Amino acid sequence: MTELIYLKNSYQKELSTNIVAITPKGDHYEIELEKTIAYPQGGGQPCDKGEIIGSKGKLIFTHVRLTHDRVLHEGKVTGTLHPRENVKVAIDWNTRVNNMRIHSAGHVIHEVIMETIPGLTPVKGEHSKQKFIEYEGTINPKLLETLEKRSNMLIASNQEIKTEIVTLSELQKRSRWVPLHLPKNKPLRIMQIGGYPPIPDGGTQVATTSEIGIIAITQIEQIGPNVRVHYSVQEISEFAKSNAESVPSISLEEFKLRLTQLQMEIFALLKLTTADELETLHVKFFGSNGKASKIIKLIRGLSISQRRLGGLAVNSFKQNVEDKFRESRSQKQEKAGARFDISLPGTPPPQGHLHIVSQAIFEITRIFERIGFTRVRHPEVDWDWYAFESLNMPPNHPARDEWETFFVEREKSKVFIGISGSHTFDASDKYGKIQNTKFSKMVLTPHTSNGQVREMEKGKLPIRMINIAKCYRRQSDVSHVPMFHQFEGMYIDKNVSIGHLKGVMDYFFKQYYGPERKSRLRPFHFQFTEPSFEVDINCGVCLGKVRLPGGKTCKLCKDGWLELGGSGMVHPAVLQNGGIDPDVYSGFAFGWGIERVAMMKSGTQLDDIRLLYSNDLRFLEQF
Ligand code: DAH
Repeated sequence: MTELIYLKNSYQKELSTNIVAITPKGDHYEIELEKTIAYPQGGGQPCDKGEIIGSKGKLIFTHVRLTHDRVLHEGKVTGTLHPRENVKVAIDWNTRVNNMRIHSAGHVIHEVIMETIPGLTPVKGEHSKQKFIEYEGTINPKLLETLEKRSNMLIASNQEIKTEIVTLSELQKRSRWVPLHLPKNKPLRIMQIGGYPPIPDGGTQVATTSEIGIIAITQIEQIGPNVRVHYSVQEISEFAKSNAESVPSISLEEFKLRLTQLQMEIFALLKLTTADELETLHVKFFGSNGKASKIIKLIRGLSISQRRLGGLAVNSFKQNVEDKFRESRSQKQEKAGARFDISLPGTPPPQGHLHIVSQAIFEITRIFERIGFTRVRHPEVDWDWYAFESLNMPPNHPARDEWETFFVEREKSKVFIGISGSHTFDASDKYGKIQNTKFSKMVLTPHTSNGQVREMEKGKLPIRMINIAKCYRRQSDVSHVPMFHQFEGMYIDKNVSIGHLKGVMDYFFKQYYGPERKSRLRPFHFQFTEPSFEVDINCGVCLGKVRLPGGKTCKLCKDGWLELGGSGMVHPAVLQNGGIDPDVYSGFAFGWGIERVAMMKSGTQLDDIRLLYSNDLRFLEQF
């Protein structure tokens, strides 16, 4: 039975012992020793390599195996070696260190996995060229980064790794997990990382986790019911180099400061870096000669007691920087993805359309044009005369109360040129007529009826006008705005009757609202028409029936009719004021609100009419 020295001390590089037996194996020999420091392949860990040196010859062994309870070292012999001869055994230290680090790394990852994911059953580990640990169960591959980060944190926290030879009952008592097949040919051992639970293990392990170096989890692979977590460990050459260089001593504060400064520098540079330059920047800092790598190496200048804290600082530094790299990588890729692709159709500029009121103005104009009416424009700031007096409403007439009028203050000395019809007049005091004439007060036109006498003053007959303009009244609530629109129609000719008025109404409604709509004239009173009417249109929802198909009453109308606006036969006094002989000519006029007419068409019942002028695209885009 070979005594297994490596089980108790994995750092022993040389050993003096005696040869027990030498057996030829092909052109090789196998040597059995009394005790050995060489690790025989097993438990997922490859064997050691080394030499057995006698006084007259040596065996360079490339393979070591355990059969029953004997360790056999296999290789080529040069010179001669004899049984019972005292020999020196030396192992290839690089191979050993590498194997230890890889094996311990597997255990670190195992502890992190056990801590992170409940319910997994360990199956086996492979810590050779292939490096993985296998479990029965599933691990979400998205956890790869988390597991890697936590493993490296555990490593950096520099935990002690202890091993201990135990009896079977001790092992069963102390280890949470006992493998199905425990070796019977060698002493049982448990290993323990820091305060993590002890675990059965017969491999070679490093003494502290920081000797492992940086690990990477390369893949989480599901194979049927089992999952393999593949990993890799920093190359031994890199690791050895970083360990070999001597480092001046440094205080923990200084070390942390250097890391913070470096982090700030990297963050600043990241802002200026393009997507293509990101990897170069990473290498510049984290490549073997990179600035970050150099500063991190200074950790070995810390006193042993402070290294653990230094390791934590390095870890959070790395985590912060890697997070930032990842973030800026994805941001920059996103931006790069938005690069100009000439094959893509361009983004169409948002297309506007006319405001619902403008649409109505154009449509109404076109409808009246077809029956010979011409759209005309008259002032929106006008003399009181045109807005009221000429329409049979002298100052202080109670009927004026209907129109909550804005009056305009003006300086009397100012020259005002008014254009009315065919003649231009100067309304200033030039002719000494400004006081007590019809041109004394000005208003913001409260209705389009101011266009009636103005149109008559043009002196051309017959008149077929449609005057569309803004109107102003001192009002603002859910159903009123201070500025709104009206369209004023007027037809003056010989022998114009109410029949013409009714005909034109019906024509307009059928054109604008559709063939099923009807109009009615309801007697009313206006100062400027005689007789006067209000024009109603049959309700578009119940079509004048009041009852809806389900038996419910229509909510839009009260009695099957909706009121549109005023109309009537032009009052003889008004004709006279416009210089037209009422005995020869007669005519009708009507004036309606554009907003009301348009809303009735779109079927929109606005809770608040002010929405029309609040410039909210979400509302306006609907029409
Ligand atoms: N101007 C009136 C108003 O604003 C409407 C009106 C009524 C106009 C009768 C007319 C008409 O031309 O004949 O309420």
